[in-house]
Parts: sequence; C-alpha cells; structure tokens
Amino acid sequence: MTAISNEKIPNNVDLSSNKKLQRALEEWQPNFIDWWMEMGPEGYQQDQIYLRTAVSVDTDGWAKFDYVKMPEYRWGIFLTPVQKERVIHFGDNIGGQIWNEVPGDVRKELRRLIVTQADTEPASVEQQRLLGKTAPSLYDLRNLFQVNVEEGRHLWAMVYLLMQYFGKDGREEAQDLLVRRSGHADSPRILQAFNKPIDDWLAFFCFTTFTDRDGKYQLGALAESAFDPLARSTRFMLTEEAHHMFVGETGVARVIERTIQLMKEAPEGDPTKRGGIPLDLVQRYVNEWYSASLDLFGSEDSSNSATYFASGLKGRWDEGNDSKWPDHKALSGDYVMELPKGDGSVERHGIPLRRAMNLVLRDSYVEDCNRVIERWNRVLERAGLSERMSLPSERFNRHMGLYSGMPFDPQGRLLSGEEFARRRGEFLPSPQDYAYVQSLMVPCYAPGEFASWIAPPRKGINNLPQEFEYVKFASNGERRA
Ligand SMILES: [Fe+2]
Ligand SMILES: [Fe+2]
Repeated sequence: MTAISNEKIPNNVDLSSNKKLQRALEEWQPNFIDWWMEMGPEGYQQDQIYLRTAVSVDTDGWAKFDYVKMPEYRWGIFLTPVQKERVIHFGDNIGGQIWNEVPGDVRKELRRLIVTQADTEPASVEQQRLLGKTAPSLYDLRNLFQVNVEEGRHLWAMVYLLMQYFGKDGREEAQDLLVRRSGHADSPRILQAFNKPIDDWLAFFCFTTFTDRDGKYQLGALAESAFDPLARSTRFMLTEEAHHMFVGETGVARVIERTIQLMKEAPEGDPTKRGGIPLDLVQRYVNEWYSASLDLFGSEDSSNSATYFASGLKGRWDEGNDSKWPDHKALSGDYVMELPKGDGSVERHGIPLRRAMNLVLRDSYVEDCNRVIERWNRVLERAGLSERMSLPSERFNRHMGLYSGMPFDPQGRLLSGEEFARRRGEFLPSPQDYAYVQSLMVPCYAPGEFASWIAPPRKGINNLPQEFEYVKFASNGERRA
C-alpha cells in the first residue's frame, strides 16, 4: 500500500476502500481542527512554519520539509509495513498468531492502553500552547510547532485504532479525547504529568527530554504488541518521537553551554548578571520533570502490567532482543525493591517479575536518561568546570508507587517531613526560580538571533543554517497581538 496524499486524510491504510471508517474520521476531522484552533499554539495559526510532514513511511517520504500554516498541516494515518512472519513473541501465547482484530477477552484492556496513550498527545499540545509567545529564536519556535503538530498526528494515529477496531465505544473515546483538557479541574487529562503547566522554555526542554522519553518507552513497549495495528502505529510514531527528545536534550545542553559562557564572562562569575540560568536552577528543573516522568510508569507492583504482559498486549523495551531478554515468559524470579524506613532500617519487597513490568520498563528508561545526563556533563567537562548534572534518586518526589509521598532527598535519603519542607527549595524549583526564569522569557524573533539564556544550535533544521527564516510571520503582525 502506498500513501495517497491527495486524499482528505493522508494515509497508508487504504481508507478510501473503508467507507464507514472514512466517514467516521471525516466527521471527527473538523472537531479536531476546532480543538487545534482553541487549544493549539496560540497566535501563530496564520504564519508559515517550516515543518516536516510525513507523507508515507518510506525513507524519503516520512520527512518532507516545507512552509505550511499549522491548521493546514496534513495530519495523516501511517503504519509501518506488515512484517510477514511476525508471531507473538512474549507472554502466555508465545509463537501464536498475531492479531489483526481485537480479541474479546482483552478488549477492555487494549482500549484502556490506547486511550491512555492517545490522551497524552493532545495534552502536551495544550500544555505548550502559550510558549510560542516567548520563544528564544525562530529555530526554537519552529521546533516547538514541529513537536505540536506531530503530537497532533499521534492523536490521529490512536484515533484511527479506536475508530477502526472499537466500534461505537471507540468513536466515543475519540470524542472524549477532544473534550478533556490539560489541568482542567473537572475534566483533566488522564495522567498527572500531562496536567502540569509548562510555563517557560526550560520546562519545555525538560518535558521533551524526560516526559517525551517516557512516551518513547511506552510506545516501544506497545510496538511489541500482539495486536499488530497497534504495533505498526507505534513503530512509526517512534520515528517522530526521536525529534522531540532531540529538541529537549539539545535545548538543555544549549542552556548549559550558554550558562558556562556567562559564568566565565559575567561579574563574579554569576550568570544571572547577564540573563543566564544558573546550573543549580537547571538541576532543580531536571529533578522536577524527571520525577514527574517516573510516575508515568505506574506502580512498581501492578497486576495490570502482569495482565498486559501475559496476554501479549505490552512487552518490555526491545522485547524481541533475545540476548537482552532470554526468557520471554517471565514466569520466574522476583524484582526486589528496597524501602528505607524512618528508623533507618530497610524493608525489602519482592515483586513477581510479571507484576514488576512497569518497573522493568522504567529501568530501561532510567538507563536512557543517564546517558542524556552523561552527554550534558561532557559539555561541562569540556569547558573545564567541576559542576555536574545528575538524576535524582528514583525515590525522590514521587506521587505514585512505593515511594509515594515520602520525603526523600534527591540522593534517596529519607528526611523528616519538617526537614524536607525546609529544604524543598534546594531540591525543586521555588517560586523565585520560576519568576526568574519567567523574567528571561522574552521572544527573540530576528532570524539568527538567540535569547540571552541559550546558545545557538550547532546546525539548523534539515541542514539549513541556524539563521534561516524558520517562521515567516503573516504580514498582519498577528504575533504581536
Ligand atoms: Fe507523541
Ligand atoms: Fe512527543
């Protein structure tokens, strides 16, 4: 099947021969656009943005670059090609046929997994909707919008699955995805990290580093699924997700780079005297977004995760890799967790492996995050500085699972509630931190110029120079409104 990009909804799922589905999606499309206009990037819907659009899943088709107005972005439905010999490769049904329809006995679970993933996509667009007003450069502004339109496409990818495979329920879920709102008191998004405000660009870069990376691991686990349409949808989403994490990781790296420069130039080595962001403040943002992202993996001991694994709905990261996971049944062995107590003793919790699948997936994520920290630290090392960034302990600032609500410090030591409250500002961003970062958030929209607090990127997008005009503002000057 090839992409038929002149259709109303670009796709490689042969939509035109499935009239019922086509009608359902074409009915949903204007509602999606309404949602985009209301909750998408505020103030830039008339401007020409240099964006990448997927028009097919071929190597030369998935990244077409051109100027486009965001509401005219071609949100499409793309699945990676069918792999002929694919069989179920983990859980109770190893060696069995993969599913091209939803089996009745896991319908509820599968719907839940898809809806939960789907809900994060529009949520992040909502969280980021005001950031365009304060972008540190046109390059960054364009990257923000690229992330936003692709999260929109990820919503399309999940809505396709809901409508194609879940009948009336699926269509209702698709509507609800446009009704919930990030941070809304009565109708919030499903997962907590997607209800947190993202009010400044440092938060955006931390979110795209740590929270989009959670997305990578969730998508990776679903890409192993026995439900083949889900596996093929999420595989293609992963190709787009890589750019989001690139935006985050290089964003923070550029902040660090600029801070280093200002530490060398500014009076008393104080970067705040020249509009830079001190390293300890960056670390507090890292602490906040990393810990919030760990919560997204769910409880360490989870009967749902055991069901998902047993039935073949959700695997581990890279489950197909036999040297990494020699045992794809995971019926034996315990995952042991340690819970320090207030009296200094340590309680050990053994979790049967299948029930610990959230934790196993989280471990893969943590390894990946550690590699990011190493790369940031190389920037500091090369500059001859002794300061280093780090990930806080997995016990720190948790609101989910075994460590939930306990006053651990970032090193994983259990404090008294009183000491934690007193020292909170060392660990997490304080109101003053937020106010300071906010004071730096002034838009910088001349091509090739960058705000005081961030270094330029090494190179531009699609091999273009960094001074390329990545956003062409409509002549009515809408952005100034
Ligand atoms: Fe996404
Ligand atoms: Fe993403």
